[in-house]
Amino acid sequence: MYSLPELEVVRSFDAIGVLTSGGDAPAMNAAIRAVVRTALNHGIKVYGIHRGYSGLLGNDLRRMSSPSVSNIIQRGGTILKSDRCKEFHQAETRQRAASILREKGIQALVTIGGDGTLTGAHLLSLETGIPVVGIPGSIDNDIPGTDDSIGFDTAVNTAIGAIDRIRDTALSHERLFLVEVMGRDSGYIATQVGIACGAEMILIPEYPTPVESIGYTLAENRRTGKGSSGIIVVAEGPEPGLTGRLAEQLLRFGEEARVCILGHIQRGGSPTAHDRVLASCMGATAIDFLLAGYSDVMVGSDGRALKPMPLADIPNHRKHAPLLYPIALQLHK
Ligand code: F6P
Repeated sequence: MYSLPELEVVRSFDAIGVLTSGGDAPAMNAAIRAVVRTALNHGIKVYGIHRGYSGLLGNDLRRMSSPSVSNIIQRGGTILKSDRCKEFHQAETRQRAASILREKGIQALVTIGGDGTLTGAHLLSLETGIPVVGIPGSIDNDIPGTDDSIGFDTAVNTAIGAIDRIRDTALSHERLFLVEVMGRDSGYIATQVGIACGAEMILIPEYPTPVESIGYTLAENRRTGKGSSGIIVVAEGPEPGLTGRLAEQLLRFGEEARVCILGHIQRGGSPTAHDRVLASCMGATAIDFLLAGYSDVMVGSDGRALKPMPLADIPNHRKHAPLLYPIALQLHK
């Protein structure tokens, strides 16, 4: 459970908007539900903005009611739909978005998404003065200023469930499996999943190591009987095809490995209890922050406490997965 800050209400809103943007993440729906219900409880009208910033620019806004968020807490994906909006990188586009919000009488915005979404939220607030509060939603958990992000726990547990099954075959056939999990720039999922699965090796983008030396180490472990589970967890990294290249490398050392790319199954599905609670608390707190006069902040988790963290810090910082595992290495080129 999270401790929520006790805040004084210093301002009011007639109407606010809520959107989800970037890669969807399990429990985004739980966050939307909490935002809508908390705002309605304070007498604030809520507009759901469909398809993220693209939908905002396309005027795809719909009034939300309490029943419109019924029966969604257990559902993956986002009822508001999502998009990656390149156009929103332009300052003039953000001005256009602000005009649309003003025309509709929407006085503040809650945005749910990853670092790209939250950077857009920061710039919108900074340049137009519209109060914005962000909620970190990304399976990657790579957003600076928060320990945890919505969807991460579910994605990790989904990957663990899949790898536990793969492990049966890995053990029965004494075979190496290269399991690719999501994380283009971040090794959080791979690290957490690798530890929880007892992986033989974890490869993450934060720690570069040449494919050749990894292939050699794994083949040598097999030869000398040092190999353990046969499960190698690989974060996808910036270059597609890492697991394939490593499999080729292993073949050169006489080891036939199987590649299994878990892909988008990690992004879908019913959220875990942890993510539902996190999302519900963050959603409610986002409204509390707006009413307390905060803007240009994200609801960040710091252990069990939820705190306002400046959105301005997100574009200038990277959050790296900690090197927690003895053999946490990166696959590169
Ligand atoms: O940011 C979440 C994430 O799932 C990354 O781990 C992954 O690299 C990326 O999104 C994939 O995005 P898309 O679904 O747009 O291909």
